[in-house]
Amino acid sequence: MYQAPRGTQDVLPEASSYWAYVEQEARGQALLGNYAEIRTPTFEATAVFQRTVGEGTDIVEKEMYTFLDKGGDSMTLRPEGTAAVVRAYLQHGMKQRPQPVKLYSLISTYRYDRPQKGRYRQFHQFNVEAIGEDDPMLDAEVAALHWRFCTALGLSGLSLQVNSMGDPVCRPRYLDGLRAYLRAHAAELCDDCRRRTEANPLRVLDCKNPPCQLVVQGAPRSADFLCAPCRAHFEQWQRYLRVVGIEPVLNARLVRGMDYYTRSVWEVWPPVHGSQSALGGGGRYDGLAEQLGGPPTPGVGFAAGIERLILALQEQRVAVPPAPAPRVFLAYQRVEDKEHIFHLAETLRAGGVSVDLAFGERKLGKQLAAADRSGAQLALILGEREIAAGTVTVKELRDGREQRTVPEAELADLLAAGGGVR
Ligand code: HAM
Repeated sequence: MYQAPRGTQDVLPEASSYWAYVEQEARGQALLGNYAEIRTPTFEATAVFQRTVGEGTDIVEKEMYTFLDKGGDSMTLRPEGTAAVVRAYLQHGMKQRPQPVKLYSLISTYRYDRPQKGRYRQFHQFNVEAIGEDDPMLDAEVAALHWRFCTALGLSGLSLQVNSMGDPVCRPRYLDGLRAYLRAHAAELCDDCRRRTEANPLRVLDCKNPPCQLVVQGAPRSADFLCAPCRAHFEQWQRYLRVVGIEPVLNARLVRGMDYYTRSVWEVWPPVHGSQSALGGGGRYDGLAEQLGGPPTPGVGFAAGIERLILALQEQRVAVPPAPAPRVFLAYQRVEDKEHIFHLAETLRAGGVSVDLAFGERKLGKQLAAADRSGAQLALILGEREIAAGTVTVKELRDGREQRTVPEAELADLLAAGGGVR
Protein backbone atom coordinates (compact mmCIF):
# COMPACT_ATOMS: atom_id res chain seq x y z
CA MET A 1 0.00 0.00 0.00
CA TYR A 2 1.30 3.45 -0.87
CA GLN A 3 2.08 5.88 1.94
CA ALA A 4 2.22 9.67 1.88
CA PRO A 5 5.86 10.73 1.24
CA ARG A 6 8.08 11.00 4.32
CA GLY A 7 7.76 14.35 6.03
CA THR A 8 4.30 15.06 4.57
CA GLN A 9 0.95 14.71 6.30
CA ASP A 10 -2.64 13.96 5.35
CA VAL A 11 -4.97 16.28 7.23
CA LEU A 12 -7.98 14.06 7.95
CA PRO A 13 -11.47 15.52 8.46
CA GLU A 14 -11.27 15.20 12.25
CA ALA A 15 -8.16 17.46 12.29
CA SER A 16 -9.40 19.93 9.70
CA SER A 17 -11.29 22.04 12.25
CA TYR A 18 -7.86 23.18 13.55
CA TRP A 19 -6.83 24.21 10.07
CA ALA A 20 -10.06 26.06 9.42
CA TYR A 21 -9.72 27.82 12.77
CA VAL A 22 -6.11 28.93 12.20
CA GLU A 23 -6.67 29.97 8.58
CA GLN A 24 -9.80 31.94 9.44
CA GLU A 25 -7.97 33.79 12.23
CA ALA A 26 -5.06 34.49 9.85
CA ARG A 27 -7.33 36.05 7.22
CA GLY A 28 -9.25 37.98 9.86
CA GLN A 29 -6.12 39.46 11.42
CA ALA A 30 -4.62 40.29 8.01
CA LEU A 31 -7.77 42.16 7.02
CA LEU A 32 -7.77 44.11 10.30
CA GLY A 33 -4.43 45.60 9.18
CA ASN A 34 -5.56 46.08 5.54
CA TYR A 35 -3.27 43.33 4.18
CA ALA A 36 -4.53 41.98 0.85
CA GLU A 37 -4.18 38.39 -0.33
CA ILE A 38 -1.56 37.43 -2.92
CA ARG A 39 -1.07 33.98 -4.43
CA THR A 40 2.18 33.15 -6.16
CA PRO A 41 3.19 29.89 -7.89
CA THR A 42 4.25 26.82 -5.90
CA PHE A 43 7.58 26.82 -7.77
CA GLU A 44 9.90 29.54 -8.98
CA ALA A 45 13.11 29.79 -10.98
CA THR A 46 15.78 28.37 -8.64
CA ALA A 47 17.76 31.63 -8.70
CA VAL A 48 14.92 33.48 -6.94
CA PHE A 49 15.73 31.57 -3.73
CA GLN A 50 19.44 30.99 -4.34
CA ARG A 51 20.20 34.73 -4.63
CA THR A 52 18.08 35.85 -1.69
CA VAL A 53 17.92 33.11 0.93
CA GLY A 54 21.65 32.78 0.29
CA GLU A 55 24.18 30.25 -1.05
CA GLY A 56 25.62 29.39 2.34
CA THR A 57 22.31 28.66 4.11
CA ASP A 58 21.02 25.20 5.02
CA ILE A 59 17.92 25.87 2.96
CA VAL A 60 19.84 26.49 -0.28
CA GLU A 61 22.69 24.06 0.40
CA LYS A 62 20.68 21.06 1.54
CA GLU A 63 16.97 21.50 1.64
CA MET A 64 15.58 22.71 -1.69
CA TYR A 65 13.40 20.55 -3.92
CA THR A 66 15.11 21.55 -7.15
CA PHE A 67 14.45 19.94 -10.53
CA LEU A 68 15.08 20.57 -14.18
CA ASP A 69 11.78 20.94 -16.02
CA LYS A 70 11.31 19.41 -19.45
CA GLY A 71 12.60 22.62 -21.06
CA GLY A 72 15.86 22.27 -19.12
CA ASP A 73 15.19 25.17 -16.73
CA SER A 74 16.05 24.79 -13.05
CA MET A 75 12.94 25.17 -10.88
CA THR A 76 12.50 24.95 -7.10
CA LEU A 77 9.44 24.22 -4.97
CA ARG A 78 9.26 27.30 -2.73
CA PRO A 79 11.10 26.73 0.57
CA GLU A 80 9.60 30.01 1.86
CA GLY A 81 7.35 32.78 0.64
CA THR A 82 9.21 36.09 0.90
CA ALA A 83 11.47 35.94 -2.17
CA ALA A 84 8.50 34.92 -4.34
CA VAL A 85 6.30 37.77 -3.07
CA VAL A 86 9.06 40.34 -3.67
CA ARG A 87 9.60 38.84 -7.14
CA ALA A 88 5.88 39.38 -7.82
CA TYR A 89 6.04 42.95 -6.41
CA LEU A 90 8.85 43.77 -8.86
CA GLN A 91 7.36 41.93 -11.83
CA HIS A 92 4.00 43.71 -11.52
CA GLY A 93 5.41 47.18 -10.92
CA MET A 94 3.82 47.43 -7.49
CA LYS A 95 6.19 50.30 -6.70
CA GLN A 96 3.66 52.46 -8.57
CA ARG A 97 1.00 51.69 -5.96
CA PRO A 98 0.66 53.51 -2.65
CA GLN A 99 3.48 52.27 -0.39
CA PRO A 100 3.82 50.15 1.60
CA VAL A 101 2.14 47.35 -0.33
CA LYS A 102 0.76 45.04 2.36
CA LEU A 103 0.25 41.42 1.37
CA TYR A 104 -0.56 38.12 2.99
CA SER A 105 -0.81 34.52 1.79
CA LEU A 106 -1.51 31.05 3.11
CA ILE A 107 0.99 28.78 1.38
CA SER A 108 2.52 25.32 1.31
CA THR A 109 6.32 25.31 1.57
CA TYR A 110 8.92 22.59 0.93
CA ARG A 111 12.22 21.81 2.63
CA TYR A 112 14.08 18.52 2.42
CA ASP A 113 14.92 18.28 6.10
CA ARG A 114 15.07 15.40 8.59
CA PRO A 115 11.39 14.98 9.56
CA GLN A 116 10.40 14.96 13.24
CA LYS A 117 7.69 16.43 15.40
CA GLY A 118 7.21 20.03 14.25
CA ARG A 119 9.54 19.64 11.27
CA TYR A 120 8.17 18.44 7.96
CA ARG A 121 9.16 18.39 4.30
CA GLN A 122 5.89 19.92 3.23
CA PHE A 123 4.52 22.43 5.71
CA HIS A 124 2.32 25.50 5.61
CA GLN A 125 2.78 29.14 6.44
CA PHE A 126 0.72 32.23 7.06
CA ASN A 127 3.05 34.64 5.27
CA VAL A 128 2.82 38.42 5.60
CA GLU A 129 4.92 41.03 3.77
CA ALA A 130 4.84 44.85 3.83
CA ILE A 131 6.99 46.23 1.02
CA GLY A 132 8.19 49.74 0.16
CA GLU A 133 8.70 51.45 3.52
CA ASP A 134 11.47 51.53 6.14
CA ASP A 135 9.57 53.20 9.00
CA PRO A 136 10.14 51.18 12.21
CA MET A 137 6.42 51.64 12.94
CA LEU A 138 5.88 49.23 10.04
CA ASP A 139 8.19 46.66 11.67
CA ALA A 140 6.05 47.11 14.78
CA GLU A 141 2.78 46.77 12.86
CA VAL A 142 3.93 43.53 11.20
CA ALA A 143 5.35 42.03 14.41
CA ALA A 144 2.20 43.10 16.30
CA LEU A 145 0.07 41.38 13.66
CA HIS A 146 2.13 38.23 14.16
CA TRP A 147 1.79 38.49 17.94
CA ARG A 148 -1.94 39.27 17.91
CA PHE A 149 -2.57 36.37 15.52
CA CYS A 150 -0.85 33.90 17.90
CA THR A 151 -2.53 35.22 21.04
CA ALA A 152 -5.98 35.57 19.42
CA LEU A 153 -5.78 31.85 18.62
CA GLY A 154 -5.77 31.31 22.38
CA LEU A 155 -2.08 30.47 22.88
CA SER A 156 -0.48 31.66 26.11
CA GLY A 157 2.99 31.92 27.63
CA LEU A 158 4.51 33.10 24.33
CA SER A 159 7.49 35.40 23.94
CA LEU A 160 8.54 37.74 21.15
CA GLN A 161 12.30 37.30 20.72
CA VAL A 162 13.94 40.24 18.93
CA ASN A 163 17.33 41.21 17.56
CA SER A 164 18.86 43.48 14.93
CA MET A 165 21.10 42.29 12.10
CA GLY A 166 22.36 45.75 11.13
CA ASP A 167 22.74 46.94 7.55
CA PRO A 168 25.46 47.04 4.84
CA VAL A 169 27.23 49.80 6.81
CA CYS A 170 27.62 48.05 10.15
CA ARG A 171 27.17 44.39 9.30
CA PRO A 172 30.62 43.94 7.67
CA ARG A 173 32.22 45.16 10.93
CA TYR A 174 30.17 42.65 12.86
CA LEU A 175 31.01 39.83 10.45
CA ASP A 176 34.74 40.66 10.77
CA GLY A 177 34.49 40.51 14.56
CA LEU A 178 32.50 37.28 14.46
CA ARG A 179 34.92 35.68 11.97
CA ALA A 180 37.94 36.61 14.09
CA TYR A 181 36.28 35.05 17.16
CA LEU A 182 35.32 31.87 15.28
CA ARG A 183 38.83 31.49 13.81
CA ALA A 184 40.21 31.64 17.33
CA HIS A 185 37.87 28.75 18.25
CA ALA A 186 38.25 26.79 15.00
CA ALA A 187 39.50 23.68 16.80
CA GLU A 188 36.22 23.38 18.73
CA LEU A 189 33.96 23.76 15.65
CA CYS A 190 32.56 21.05 13.36
CA ASP A 191 33.93 20.79 9.79
CA ASP A 192 30.88 22.54 8.37
CA CYS A 193 31.30 25.47 10.76
CA ARG A 194 35.02 25.81 10.00
CA ARG A 195 34.01 26.20 6.36
CA ARG A 196 31.12 28.55 7.29
CA THR A 197 33.49 30.73 9.32
CA GLU A 198 35.01 31.96 6.06
CA ALA A 199 32.02 31.72 3.70
CA ASN A 200 29.10 32.82 5.89
CA PRO A 201 29.96 33.12 9.60
CA LEU A 202 26.36 33.99 10.62
CA ARG A 203 25.38 30.44 9.79
CA VAL A 204 27.63 29.12 12.55
CA LEU A 205 25.31 30.84 15.02
CA ASP A 206 22.44 28.50 14.19
CA CYS A 207 24.48 25.27 13.93
CA LYS A 208 22.73 22.58 15.97
CA ASN A 209 25.92 20.72 17.07
CA PRO A 210 26.40 21.04 20.85
CA PRO A 211 30.18 21.85 20.66
CA CYS A 212 29.48 24.64 18.15
CA GLN A 213 26.64 25.95 20.29
CA LEU A 214 29.08 26.18 23.19
CA VAL A 215 31.43 28.32 21.11
CA VAL A 216 28.50 30.45 19.97
CA GLN A 217 27.65 31.27 23.61
CA GLY A 218 30.66 33.57 23.78
CA ALA A 219 30.45 34.98 20.25
CA PRO A 220 30.18 38.74 19.58
CA ARG A 221 26.61 40.03 19.31
CA SER A 222 25.27 41.88 16.26
CA ALA A 223 23.40 44.38 18.47
CA ASP A 224 26.76 45.59 19.88
CA PHE A 225 28.03 46.53 16.40
CA LEU A 226 25.07 48.55 15.11
CA CYS A 227 25.70 51.89 13.42
CA ALA A 228 23.75 54.88 14.77
CA PRO A 229 20.84 54.72 12.27
CA CYS A 230 20.43 50.94 12.84
CA ARG A 231 20.55 51.40 16.59
CA ALA A 232 17.90 54.16 16.42
CA HIS A 233 15.70 51.98 14.19
CA PHE A 234 16.04 49.03 16.57
CA GLU A 235 15.20 51.10 19.63
CA GLN A 236 12.25 52.86 17.99
CA TRP A 237 10.85 49.51 16.82
CA GLN A 238 10.89 48.22 20.37
CA ARG A 239 9.30 51.42 21.71
CA TYR A 240 6.40 51.00 19.27
CA LEU A 241 5.96 47.42 20.45
CA ARG A 242 5.86 48.47 24.10
CA VAL A 243 3.31 51.17 23.33
CA VAL A 244 0.87 48.42 22.34
CA GLY A 245 1.67 46.26 25.35
CA ILE A 246 4.08 43.82 23.68
CA GLU A 247 7.25 43.32 25.70
CA PRO A 248 10.03 42.20 23.32
CA VAL A 249 12.72 39.85 24.69
CA LEU A 250 16.17 40.89 23.48
CA ASN A 251 17.91 37.79 22.10
CA ALA A 252 21.42 38.49 20.80
CA ARG A 253 21.69 34.92 19.40
CA LEU A 254 18.70 35.28 17.12
CA VAL A 255 19.99 35.36 13.52
CA ARG A 256 17.31 33.48 11.47
CA GLY A 257 18.04 31.06 8.66
CA MET A 258 18.12 33.35 5.64
CA ASP A 259 20.75 35.80 4.44
CA TYR A 260 18.34 38.51 3.29
CA TYR A 261 17.63 40.00 6.70
CA THR A 262 18.71 43.53 7.63
CA ARG A 263 17.91 45.30 10.90
CA SER A 264 14.84 43.88 12.71
CA VAL A 265 14.50 40.12 13.18
CA TRP A 266 12.12 38.29 15.50
CA GLU A 267 10.61 34.95 16.40
CA VAL A 268 7.57 33.96 18.44
CA TRP A 269 8.45 31.18 20.87
CA PRO A 270 6.18 28.92 22.90
CA PRO A 271 6.75 28.68 26.69
CA VAL A 272 9.14 25.72 26.29
CA HIS A 273 11.50 26.43 23.42
CA GLY A 274 13.43 23.79 21.46
CA SER A 275 14.99 23.75 18.00
CA GLN A 276 11.66 22.84 16.33
CA SER A 277 9.35 25.04 18.30
CA ALA A 278 9.48 28.58 16.85
CA LEU A 279 5.88 29.33 15.97
CA GLY A 280 6.98 31.83 13.38
CA GLY A 281 9.65 34.30 12.52
CA GLY A 282 10.33 37.32 10.41
CA GLY A 283 12.24 40.49 9.92
CA ARG A 284 13.27 43.31 7.63
CA TYR A 285 14.90 42.65 4.25
CA ASP A 286 15.86 46.00 2.77
CA GLY A 287 18.34 44.49 0.26
CA LEU A 288 16.21 41.68 -1.08
CA ALA A 289 14.58 43.50 -4.01
CA GLU A 290 18.01 44.50 -5.31
CA GLN A 291 19.23 40.91 -5.04
CA LEU A 292 16.38 40.09 -7.43
CA GLY A 293 17.50 42.81 -9.87
CA GLY A 294 14.99 45.45 -8.75
CA PRO A 295 15.47 49.00 -7.45
CA PRO A 296 16.28 49.53 -3.74
CA THR A 297 13.02 48.65 -1.94
CA PRO A 298 12.74 48.12 1.81
CA GLY A 299 10.40 45.48 3.21
CA VAL A 300 9.46 43.61 6.36
CA GLY A 301 7.45 40.46 6.99
CA PHE A 302 6.98 37.23 8.87
CA ALA A 303 5.78 33.68 8.39
CA ALA A 304 3.97 31.61 11.00
CA GLY A 305 4.14 27.81 10.75
CA ILE A 306 0.61 26.41 10.68
CA GLU A 307 1.54 22.84 11.76
CA ARG A 308 3.50 24.14 14.75
CA LEU A 309 0.67 26.44 15.77
CA ILE A 310 -1.74 23.51 15.66
CA LEU A 311 0.64 21.38 17.77
CA ALA A 312 0.82 24.22 20.29
CA LEU A 313 -2.97 24.60 20.34
CA GLN A 314 -3.28 20.87 21.03
CA GLU A 315 -0.58 20.93 23.71
CA GLN A 316 -2.22 23.89 25.44
CA ARG A 317 -5.63 22.22 25.03
CA VAL A 318 -7.18 25.21 23.33
CA ALA A 319 -10.73 24.29 22.27
CA VAL A 320 -11.40 25.05 18.60
CA PRO A 321 -14.88 25.31 17.06
CA PRO A 322 -15.88 21.87 15.72
CA ALA A 323 -16.43 21.35 11.99
CA PRO A 324 -20.08 22.15 11.22
CA ALA A 325 -22.46 19.16 11.21
CA PRO A 326 -25.32 18.94 8.67
CA ARG A 327 -28.50 20.67 9.75
CA VAL A 328 -30.70 17.72 8.76
CA PHE A 329 -30.35 14.04 7.99
CA LEU A 330 -32.95 12.55 5.65
CA ALA A 331 -34.06 9.02 6.56
CA TYR A 332 -36.47 6.94 4.47
CA GLN A 333 -38.15 3.57 4.60
CA ARG A 334 -38.55 2.33 1.04
CA VAL A 335 -36.03 2.00 -1.77
CA GLU A 336 -38.75 2.94 -4.28
CA ASP A 337 -38.97 6.39 -2.65
CA LYS A 338 -35.30 7.22 -3.29
CA GLU A 339 -35.95 9.49 -6.29
CA HIS A 340 -38.41 11.45 -4.19
CA ILE A 341 -35.90 11.60 -1.33
CA PHE A 342 -33.02 12.67 -3.56
CA HIS A 343 -35.20 15.41 -5.06
CA LEU A 344 -36.09 16.65 -1.57
CA ALA A 345 -32.42 16.64 -0.47
CA GLU A 346 -31.35 18.71 -3.48
CA THR A 347 -34.31 21.12 -3.07
CA LEU A 348 -33.32 21.76 0.54
CA ARG A 349 -29.65 22.21 -0.37
CA ALA A 350 -30.61 24.66 -3.12
CA GLY A 351 -32.40 26.60 -0.39
CA GLY A 352 -29.22 26.74 1.72
CA VAL A 353 -29.99 23.94 4.18
CA SER A 354 -27.19 21.41 4.71
CA VAL A 355 -28.43 17.86 4.25
CA ASP A 356 -26.99 14.38 4.49
CA LEU A 357 -28.72 11.08 3.78
CA ALA A 358 -28.07 7.37 3.51
CA PHE A 359 -27.07 5.59 0.31
CA GLY A 360 -27.61 1.99 -0.79
CA GLU A 361 -30.41 0.02 0.82
CA ARG A 362 -30.12 0.61 4.55
CA LYS A 363 -32.87 -0.12 7.05
CA LEU A 364 -34.60 2.92 8.59
CA GLY A 365 -33.23 2.06 12.05
CA LYS A 366 -29.65 2.05 10.67
CA GLN A 367 -30.27 5.35 8.94
CA LEU A 368 -31.49 6.91 12.18
CA ALA A 369 -28.35 5.67 13.93
CA ALA A 370 -26.29 7.29 11.16
CA ALA A 371 -28.33 10.47 11.62
CA ASP A 372 -27.37 10.51 15.31
CA ARG A 373 -23.69 9.95 14.50
CA SER A 374 -23.71 12.73 11.89
CA GLY A 375 -24.31 15.35 14.57
CA ALA A 376 -27.29 16.73 12.60
CA GLN A 377 -29.81 18.84 14.48
CA LEU A 378 -32.86 17.23 12.91
CA ALA A 379 -33.82 13.92 11.34
CA LEU A 380 -36.41 14.16 8.57
CA ILE A 381 -38.21 10.82 8.40
CA LEU A 382 -40.11 9.79 5.29
CA GLY A 383 -41.74 6.42 5.84
CA GLU A 384 -44.49 4.87 3.76
CA ARG A 385 -47.10 6.73 5.82
CA GLU A 386 -45.49 10.14 5.40
CA ILE A 387 -45.01 9.75 1.65
CA ALA A 388 -48.65 8.74 1.23
CA ALA A 389 -49.82 11.74 3.27
CA GLY A 390 -47.36 14.23 1.70
CA THR A 391 -45.81 14.91 5.12
CA VAL A 392 -42.47 14.61 6.86
CA THR A 393 -41.76 13.66 10.46
CA VAL A 394 -39.29 16.17 11.89
CA LYS A 395 -37.39 14.81 14.87
CA GLU A 396 -35.07 16.78 17.17
CA LEU A 397 -31.85 14.75 17.53
CA ARG A 398 -30.05 16.76 20.18
CA ASP A 399 -32.26 17.70 23.10
CA GLY A 400 -35.64 16.31 24.04
CA ARG A 401 -35.87 14.25 20.86
CA GLU A 402 -39.37 15.67 20.34
CA GLN A 403 -41.00 15.20 16.98
CA ARG A 404 -43.86 16.54 14.91
CA THR A 405 -45.30 16.07 11.49
CA VAL A 406 -45.33 18.87 8.92
CA PRO A 407 -46.55 19.00 5.32
CA GLU A 408 -43.64 18.40 2.96
CA ALA A 409 -44.61 21.51 0.99
CA GLU A 410 -43.92 23.66 4.06
CA LEU A 411 -40.63 22.03 4.95
CA ALA A 412 -38.27 24.25 2.94
CA ASP A 413 -39.78 27.46 4.37
CA LEU A 414 -39.75 26.06 7.90
CA LEU A 415 -36.05 25.15 7.72
CA ALA A 416 -35.05 28.34 5.91
CA ALA A 417 -36.66 30.27 8.77
CA GLY A 418 -34.44 28.35 11.20
CA GLY A 419 -37.38 26.32 12.53
CA GLY A 420 -37.38 22.72 13.71
CA VAL A 421 -39.66 20.83 16.02
CA ARG A 422 -40.69 23.92 17.99
P1 HAM B 1 11.32 30.62 8.69
O1 HAM B 1 11.73 30.94 10.07
O2 HAM B 1 12.21 29.80 7.88
O3 HAM B 1 11.02 32.02 7.98
O4 HAM B 1 9.92 29.92 8.74
C1 HAM B 1 8.83 30.49 9.43
C2 HAM B 1 8.14 29.45 10.28
O5 HAM B 1 7.75 28.33 9.47
C3 HAM B 1 9.00 28.83 11.37
O6 HAM B 1 9.07 29.65 12.51
C4 HAM B 1 8.21 27.56 11.65
O7 HAM B 1 7.08 27.82 12.46
C5 HAM B 1 7.76 27.16 10.28
N1 HAM B 1 8.66 26.15 9.70
C6 HAM B 1 9.87 26.35 9.14
N2 HAM B 1 10.40 25.19 8.71
C7 HAM B 1 9.50 24.22 9.02
C8 HAM B 1 9.45 22.80 8.83
N3 HAM B 1 10.44 22.14 8.20
N4 HAM B 1 8.36 22.14 9.28
C9 HAM B 1 7.35 22.80 9.89
N5 HAM B 1 7.33 24.12 10.07
C10 HAM B 1 8.39 24.83 9.65
C11 HAM B 1 10.62 32.17 6.69
O8 HAM B 1 10.18 31.28 6.01
C12 HAM B 1 10.63 33.60 6.20
N6 HAM B 1 10.23 33.62 4.78
C13 HAM B 1 9.72 34.45 7.06
C14 HAM B 1 9.64 35.87 6.59
C15 HAM B 1 8.65 36.44 5.92
N7 HAM B 1 10.59 36.78 6.76
C16 HAM B 1 10.20 37.91 6.19
N8 HAM B 1 9.01 37.70 5.67
